Amino acid sequence: MTDPRQNQGKSVFIRTYGCQMNVYDSERIVGLLKPLGYGVAETPDSADLVVLNTCHIREKAAEKVYSDLGRLKVIKKSRNKSGDDLKIAVAGCVAQAEGAEITARAPYVNMVVGPQAYHRLPELLARAARENGEVLDTDFAVEEKFDRLAERTADGPTAFLTIQEGCDKFCTFCVVPYTRGAEVSRSVDAVVAEARSLAAQGVREVTLLGQNVNAWASAPPAGMAGNTWGLGELCRHLAKIDGLDRIRFTTSHPRDMDDGLIAALAEEEKLMPYLHLPVQAGSDKILKAMNRGHTAEHYVKLIERIRAERPDIALSGDFIVGFPGETSEDFKATLDLVEAVGYASAYSFKYSRRPGTPGAAMQKQVPEDQKSEHLAQLQALLERQRVEFNQKQVGQSLTVLFEREGRKNGQLIGRSPYLQSVHVSAPKSMLGSIAPVSIEGVTPNALAGVLKEGEYAA
Ligand code: SAH
Ligand code: SF4
Ligand code: F3S
Repeated sequence: MTDPRQNQGKSVFIRTYGCQMNVYDSERIVGLLKPLGYGVAETPDSADLVVLNTCHIREKAAEKVYSDLGRLKVIKKSRNKSGDDLKIAVAGCVAQAEGAEITARAPYVNMVVGPQAYHRLPELLARAARENGEVLDTDFAVEEKFDRLAERTADGPTAFLTIQEGCDKFCTFCVVPYTRGAEVSRSVDAVVAEARSLAAQGVREVTLLGQNVNAWASAPPAGMAGNTWGLGELCRHLAKIDGLDRIRFTTSHPRDMDDGLIAALAEEEKLMPYLHLPVQAGSDKILKAMNRGHTAEHYVKLIERIRAERPDIALSGDFIVGFPGETSEDFKATLDLVEAVGYASAYSFKYSRRPGTPGAAMQKQVPEDQKSEHLAQLQALLERQRVEFNQKQVGQSLTVLFEREGRKNGQLIGRSPYLQSVHVSAPKSMLGSIAPVSIEGVTPNALAGVLKEGEYAA
């Protein structure tokens, strides 16, 4: 048996693509490797092990992996010449979806490990060292994974916390149900333990993560009677943790936005007034073909209900243009929906045909130039709304959680309740604190403000 301790003093370089869940996973991977003696390397050149934590959502994201691998191969070869080695691991959603293809296209990769199996990386590393070939692990072992992960080390005043993984929705464009598997929720006790540990290390804000975070459901905590809890109850429970002052959650699905969660948003002040609620398209015909399970009207009404309960809520969304069969008229319905809702921020993408999804086999694929034209139009509208939303904050007071130092001397960068970056002149000692800031101006990507004198005791 290889003794993992022989790795003392080694280092890992990890590159993360894709969503926040991958950011969370990368942090956990670093945590898993630490007891084996791995520190973090700043570049692949200075690393003994490189982990690419990959994303399969769109073709471009997936293709990046192979260009990265090409560059790593060069480093590995030159190491091998001098009798040394660079171990290469591919993790994440491309590993899950294309494990065999990676093996075939890049046989110099040592480990391929899916998003539900990365807790076994230490064993895989030992095996890769022993067998000197490629090892592959793409089992779905979510529950085992969370049980096996060590306690986390917080890094700054904000943290992601995965509470739910996987997806049962099967939107016809999307690979996630195949790469992340079925919906699984972590228990209240597991989530609370992780949140408490983060708060004890100075974390003030957690963002609860799930591919369908509002589908989270679990039995009440040990010793408490009652029915299954939903996300609303979980958030209220987490809000009781001292030191934890801000709670966010992402990504929500319109179908799982239940009354309990809306009531929690209305009543729990620690829940930030910002909701990422993707709709993808505004035409009912397209929503149906996408298998979203709701109409445009249902979505708009839902937003009205949420706004009635929490008037200051800011909305964010995801959009896809050029889904098969989408005409200019269908696209116009997306623009109308965006006008009707008014977004503070949004992500929009050209439809990417993903192997194995029903959308890929559909007739009437939309030509690239039409996708590009519609995307530009949609992005112009969303950008206008974003700028308007930012400008509305000028003259207001917003609480800001200071996260890091800015580029200018004496400047700190924090986040408003609406997730806007806010640049403020403030002493470094305020990192990690929450203070009211008067917003005085906007820059292309941030707000600029000044501390409200004497009010920052937090
Ligand atoms: N679970 C979330 C989103 C997961 S993927 C939800 O249901 O909303 C993040 C975003 O990527 C999606 O909201 C969608 O807008 C986009 N996306 C997913 N598959 C895509 C594809 N095949 N082409 C283009 N964009 C896609
Ligand atoms: Fe993908 Fe749809 Fe599931 Fe979101 S809800 S992860 S878009 S299948
Ligand atoms: Fe990408 Fe997987 Fe996240 S496909 S968006 S990394 S769930």
